Amino acid sequence: MSTEKRKGDHIRVCLEEDVEFFRGNGFDEFSFTHNALPEVDWNEIDISTRFLGRKFSAPIFIGAVTGGTTESVEINKNLAKAAQELGIGMGLGSQRAMIESPSLAKTFKVRDVAPDIFLVGNIGASQILKYGYTPEKISRALEEIGANALAIHLNPAQELAQKGGNRDWKGALESIEKIKSGIKLPVIVKEVGNGISGDVAKKLAGVGVDAIDVAGSGGTNWVKVDSIIAKTPYEAFYEWGIPTAVALEQCLASVKIPIIASGGIRNGIDAAKALSMGASLAGMSLPLLRPACDSAGAVKAALEKFINELKTTMFLTSSKNLSELRRKAIKI
Ligand SMILES: Cc1cc2nc3c(=O)[nH]c(=O)nc-3n(C[C@H](O)[C@H](O)[C@H](O)COP(=O)(O)O)c2cc1C
Repeated sequence: MSTEKRKGDHIRVCLEEDVEFFRGNGFDEFSFTHNALPEVDWNEIDISTRFLGRKFSAPIFIGAVTGGTTESVEINKNLAKAAQELGIGMGLGSQRAMIESPSLAKTFKVRDVAPDIFLVGNIGASQILKYGYTPEKISRALEEIGANALAIHLNPAQELAQKGGNRDWKGALESIEKIKSGIKLPVIVKEVGNGISGDVAKKLAGVGVDAIDVAGSGGTNWVKVDSIIAKTPYEAFYEWGIPTAVALEQCLASVKIPIIASGGIRNGIDAAKALSMGASLAGMSLPLLRPACDSAGAVKAALEKFINELKTTMFLTSSKNLSELRRKAIKI
């Protein structure tokens, strides 16, 4: 199946089918103590933060969604416009499609509508391994779209559910190390919804990776999406993965580099719990897909609702900034 066709199928299936995990993201095990005396003015709550040297107006990241198919042009521009207006960061989908077919580069380009956002390019560790993508090839693809960082995605479970997916992951860590040492931009390593454990995080930090996006289970389920598309028998693995809150706890206990919490983050309370535990940013993808098919205004409205929920949680826990929110979520 061509990469372009698969990217179109991913969008279609994500819009039409129930593609989320049955098991939750793990944040239900955490709770905040309600503060009936907040002593905070809601309007003075400051949610700005820094990530990899850049200022974000809110600790929110639009996770990788798409690129490489005609629908992606509108989707990426709508996401990027909203990110620009809100002062947050955004990830693009895998740039494999534009590396294979340079004419598809336009489906990733958003700098005309979002000149200032922290923009993250994307490639799969599996492609680096299978096709021997060099740091030079990846740097050119990043430069062409004006990226500020590279996300390398780890998706071994998803690959198995695809027909013809990569089954040989020998040398993956070494290939990440090679890319990291050969490109100038910071490197973030992410999963796609099955989670990064503390042990894996240690290995990644050990080869110089700058940040980790845990992308744990509880949200979009890529084993399910790809086995629906390819009709492969992977139902037994539909709940496979490390719930996001567990992956986050493990990574924070194992490494000192910044951690993004994503995978099933669906409201500002989940984001507040993740930030309270120590995440640098909270990310989400699927909830923004439908609004992004509609307009930049719809994406912005969805994100504003999310930000309002985060600020409300901060108000009700008497946290006037993100450092005050730290460690207020308790395990129950
Ligand atoms: C339509 C769609 C396409 C995606 N494509 C990519 C991709 O190309 N590269 C990648 O690293 N992650 C990709 N993801 C995974 C997300 O970045 C994210 O890790 C995952 O969906 C879990 O977050 P969520 O539960 O908020 O959706 C995609 C997600 C969606 C919804």
